[in-house]
Amino acid sequence: MTTPKTCLNYINGQWLPAKSGATLESRNPADWRQLVATFPRSEAVDVDAAVEAARNAYRQWRLVPAPARAGYIYRVAELLIQHKEELAQLMSREMGKAIAEARGDVQEGIDCALYYAGEGRRLFGQTTPSEMPNKFAMTVRMPIGVCALITPWNFPVAIPCWKALPALVCGNTIILKPAGDTPACASFLIQIFHDAGFPEGVVNLVHGFGSEVGKALTEHPDIDLVSFTGSSQTGAEIGSTCGRTHKRVCLELGGKNAQIVMDDADLELALEGAVWGAFGTTGQRCTATSRLLLHRDIKDKFTSMLVERTAKLRLGAGIDPNTNVGPLVNVAQLQRVSGYLEVAHFEKAKVLIGGKIANIGDLKYGFFFEPTILDNVTPDMRVAREEIFGPVVSLIEVNSFEEAIKILNDTPYGLSSSIYTGDVNRAFQAMRDIEAGITYINGPTIGAEVHLPFGGVKQTGNGHREAGTAALDVFSEWKSVYVDFSGRLQRAQIDNH
Ligand code: UN1
Repeated sequence: MTTPKTCLNYINGQWLPAKSGATLESRNPADWRQLVATFPRSEAVDVDAAVEAARNAYRQWRLVPAPARAGYIYRVAELLIQHKEELAQLMSREMGKAIAEARGDVQEGIDCALYYAGEGRRLFGQTTPSEMPNKFAMTVRMPIGVCALITPWNFPVAIPCWKALPALVCGNTIILKPAGDTPACASFLIQIFHDAGFPEGVVNLVHGFGSEVGKALTEHPDIDLVSFTGSSQTGAEIGSTCGRTHKRVCLELGGKNAQIVMDDADLELALEGAVWGAFGTTGQRCTATSRLLLHRDIKDKFTSMLVERTAKLRLGAGIDPNTNVGPLVNVAQLQRVSGYLEVAHFEKAKVLIGGKIANIGDLKYGFFFEPTILDNVTPDMRVAREEIFGPVVSLIEVNSFEEAIKILNDTPYGLSSSIYTGDVNRAFQAMRDIEAGITYINGPTIGAEVHLPFGGVKQTGNGHREAGTAALDVFSEWKSVYVDFSGRLQRAQIDNH
C-alpha cells in the first residue's frame, strides 16, 4: 500500500494547512480501506488569504507579456509529460478511473498546456478602419482579474487545465478549488505549476467543501470571475450569487446525452461507440451516453449485441490494466445510482443486464455498480430525463429519424450527442437539428478534443464554452481602442456626415 499523502493549500507560493488545522480524507473508491491523502478543510479565512495573494500578484502578472506568460505554461506541459504515469496512477487510485483513461486525462492536460502556450503568441485582436481620417481602431484582449476555478472529480487534471491555462495566458491570477474527492491529484497538479516557476500568488489552491470554500469564493467581493463545472443545482446557486455580486461566471453543468443508431448504421461500429460512451469512466462523464435511441428495425439485433458485449466488461480497480469499468467515485454516487435503479423499477423499465451493486470478492471494499442496460424506456420517464452519472444506459425505440431527433432534443440539457448512420443527408440534418453543444457523426458522445469549444445549450450551461479559442472569451474582455492622429477633434457620426 502506498503511503498516504498530506495535501496542503497553496497560497502565495507557500504550502499551508487550513488556518483551523482541520483536515479531511481522500480514500480509494476501489478499496475504501486505503487512505490516499489527507487535505485541509479550509474556510473563509483561508479563502481570504488566497484572494489577497491573487489580487496582489495580479498587479504584476497582467503586465507580463503574454508570450512570457506562455513560457510558464509550456513548462507545465513539459512537467506533465515527465510525470504523466505517476499522476495517472495517483488519479486511478484516488478516483477510480481505468488506468488507460487516467493517462488520457493527463494527456488532455498536456494538450491543453501546449495549446494555450501557443496562444501566448497569438491572443489576436482585430484592427479595423475608422470612419474618420487619420484615426486608427483596434480591439485588444484584457485580463479580467482574480478567477475562482471550481472543478469536479471526474477529470481531475483535464478540467483544472481547461480552466487554469487559458485564464493564466490571458493575464489573470487564479484560485483553484478542486473537488473533495480528488485533492491529491489537484495538489500534484499545483506542485507542477509551482515547479514551472509561476510568480508567487499567480496560482493558488484552496481545498475543502464546496459549501464552505466554494461558497466563500463565490461570495467574495474581490473575485472577478467564477468558472464552475458540476451539477446543475450547484450551478444555479453559483449563477445567482454571481449575478447578485456582478461577477463573470462560466457554468458547465449536466448532460443527458443520446446516441442515435439508425437502420442504416454500421452496427459493429455503433456498438463499440455505445459501450465506450455509456460505460467509459463508469458513466461518470458529463458527456456520457445515457440514452440509446434505436431504430425499430435494428433494435432487437443491436440490443442483443449490446447485452452480450456488456456482459464481457470487467469491473475492477482502475489501476488493474485488465479493468474496463472502475468503481463509482464515492458512496454517495453509489447510493445515487442505486436510487435510480429503484426509480427504473418503479417506472417499469426492464433491466436487461446489471442493475445491482457489485460487492463479490475483490469488489467488496469498493463502490462498484454493474454496467446496466434498461429497456422499455419511454422519453417521459425520469431515467430518460435526469442525469444519473453512472454506468446506466436507457434504450428507447424510435420509428424514424425525425422521431429520434425529437426525443434526443426532449431534455432540459444539451451537451453532447451522436448519430450512427450511413446516410450523409441524415448526418447533415442531424448536425443542424440536434440541440447540443457537441454532435458526433459515427462516433460516441465522448472524446472532445481541447482545441474545439466544449460546452452545451439549454440547462447544460450559460452560453459559454471552454477549451479552444472560446475559452479566451471567458477569461478576457474586449477593449476597443481608438487612436486619433489627426491632431484635431473629430466627432464620430457628425463630422463625416
Ligand atoms: C466531462 O465529462 O466533464 O469529451 C469532460 C470528453 C472528455 C471530457 C469530458 N474529453 O468526454
